[in-house]
Amino acid sequence: MPERSLSQEFEGPSGVAEPASGLAEALVAWQRMHGRQGMPWQGLRDPYRVWLSEIMLQQTQVATVRDYYTRFLARFGDVAALAAADEAEVMGLWAGLGYYSRARHLHRCAQQVVTEHGGAFPRSAAQLATLPGIGPSTAAAIAAFCFDERVSILDGNVKRVMTRLLGFGEDLAVPRHERALLAQAQALLPRAAADMPTYTQALMDLGATVCLPREPRCGACPWRAACRAHAQGRPQDYPQRSRRLRRQARASWCLWLTDAQGSVWLQQRPAPGIWAGLWAWPMFDDESACLSLAEALCRDAAAASPEAAPTEVQPLAGFLHVLTHLDWTLHPRRLRLPTGLPAEALEARLGPGRWWRQEQLAALGLPAPLRKRLPLG
Ligand code: ADE
Repeated sequence: MPERSLSQEFEGPSGVAEPASGLAEALVAWQRMHGRQGMPWQGLRDPYRVWLSEIMLQQTQVATVRDYYTRFLARFGDVAALAAADEAEVMGLWAGLGYYSRARHLHRCAQQVVTEHGGAFPRSAAQLATLPGIGPSTAAAIAAFCFDERVSILDGNVKRVMTRLLGFGEDLAVPRHERALLAQAQALLPRAAADMPTYTQALMDLGATVCLPREPRCGACPWRAACRAHAQGRPQDYPQRSRRLRRQARASWCLWLTDAQGSVWLQQRPAPGIWAGLWAWPMFDDESACLSLAEALCRDAAAASPEAAPTEVQPLAGFLHVLTHLDWTLHPRRLRLPTGLPAEALEARLGPGRWWRQEQLAALGLPAPLRKRLPLG
């Protein structure tokens, strides 16, 4: 599908030239009537709060983010408090939200704002995008919401909205095509800078509630009359996807070790990688490696306290954990050691790790599936 060159003026399907600002104004009016309302980060001008919400919302639904956002702000009320925090506490407050590199970047970003910008977020999208974890679209959102900068967001939802409106059929995996789309999105911005916060929220809301991937609600769209994809009758064909990422599948066996007091042995996951920095059961790529380690630990435990009852490995039901590009099946194998083997003995077999008492688990950075299964005392 050829890319149309639409920039300053937008020619709708009727052939009538329509100034780009007409579209922006229609969207701003739509937002006031039909946009999402009542989200705790809406209408804010404080870049700390807006930044936090944008990072949390990057790969997570609004309904999930709400409580995390409130809890996080109750603990870290400003960027200085977050910068001074212990990383383990930040990870603990993030646990369950997923995509944990966001939390590490968040912490580093707060520290950089304090050390390099005197505790105040920079005011332009270009400068914001130099900070850890802030990509161009997040930078644009913060600059538009807090400082009225005339700069367009272009996240996944907005790419869908824009490619449909413009009938833009090029492959967005090619950087120059993405730049071309961004230039056209930029040309559609409202003329009045004061409209930027509402317009930016409107684009997000249109993408999230109307211009849906598989079943767009074109009847409810303020841009329907101008939308090329709608006129073509196949809005679902946009955006064009040429390089689909193939999903992978993997299985792992997890050794869920507890001692006589119910403490759990956990190890910090390596970075980079899935769950980097979070505490998880020791993992194995095959069942026999997992079981032979469990047997070795049983022998160690028997040698340490011969009078204790022998113990058995208990296979628990496997479960599927779905990540962006990976279907990961985890098979827990539970082993209750009759005695708390000292950390050195376990580390000799399993590598670095430690025992955590039940009452310590809730505040720990745990991956969601472990949080669900471990007894959080
Ligand atoms: N997704 C990303 N930013 C958002 C926001 N400000 N409101 C709702 N959803 C979003």
